[in-house]
Amino acid sequence: MKLSTRSAATLLLASTALSHPVEKRQAVTDLDILQYALTLEHLENVFYKSGIEQFTESDFTAAGFSTQYFTNLLYVVADEQDHVELLTSAIAATGATPVAACAYDFPFTDPMSFVALASVLEGVGTSAYLGGAGLITSKTYLGVAGSILVTESIHTSLQRFNLGEIAPANPYGTALGLNEVYTLAASFITSCPASNPALPVKAFPGLTATQGEPTSQGISYTFQPASAPPSTFFVTFVSGLTTVSVTGTLEGDMVSTVIPDTIQGQSYAFITSQNVTGALLDSDVLFGPAIVEVTPPSPRIDFGEEK
Ligand SMILES: *[C@@H]1O[C@H](CO)[C@@H](O)[C@H](O)[C@H]1NC(C)=O
Repeated sequence: MKLSTRSAATLLLASTALSHPVEKRQAVTDLDILQYALTLEHLENVFYKSGIEQFTESDFTAAGFSTQYFTNLLYVVADEQDHVELLTSAIAATGATPVAACAYDFPFTDPMSFVALASVLEGVGTSAYLGGAGLITSKTYLGVAGSILVTESIHTSLQRFNLGEIAPANPYGTALGLNEVYTLAASFITSCPASNPALPVKAFPGLTATQGEPTSQGISYTFQPASAPPSTFFVTFVSGLTTVSVTGTLEGDMVSTVIPDTIQGQSYAFITSQNVTGALLDSDVLFGPAIVEVTPPSPRIDFGEEK
């Protein structure tokens, strides 16, 4: 572990990208992205450690998880710790002060709800690295971010499989923007050290999925926005490479819609001001994201391509 952390940190140190001027259109710097990634890794690291501090191996097996799962879980915990160490040294190497861990409130009460939240957090972490990748200017940092993304994705798969969900629920990963991820992360953060450098991120007004999950395509589904939406709005789903806006109706203070048939796996719902036909822009977002787990339909396998 230590060795791998150090050699990867050396790789990062070798990069001079942080001293290069960023493109004009670039709103965030590579250093911002590193601090953002470290913010998320701290959250995962504290989350996992609090889980294995509260629950023993026999608590997990009593809840239906195997001893193999518990062994894998310990590797996951160590991975997140390693990611924190790597990013901390990479940021310190630029002369900046790495963000420190915050105080968090994680709503799990038993091994099952812990693993369910682990699965969601890993999915969000994977989406964060995928969305962040396009903002990184240094190829070296991009390579390291890609390497962490692979590991977060393996963690996601492990958690999903052990929850009895389809692990490869979508042929494609889902990218989320900085503010979209921060909105989700902020819901677990109670306070951060005042000495932490401010990040160029903001949380959108909240949106909560109010129905049981997983749900399915074609099912009517409700969301609770943090306040009343304007008279015209859309419900926009982001899932894999698909972004699709559908109509929603206001029923009391809830927004009701139908899960589109192109959404599957851990997906993200927003209330938007527009019918989003290309990429979802921050300026489109009124509320969200809310996380929706959509069971994929049966796989469609075409042997015709073999002939
Ligand atoms: C959004 O725009 C697309 C493309 O023009 C259209 O097919 C779709 O019906 C629109 N959706 C809504 C909810 O208006």
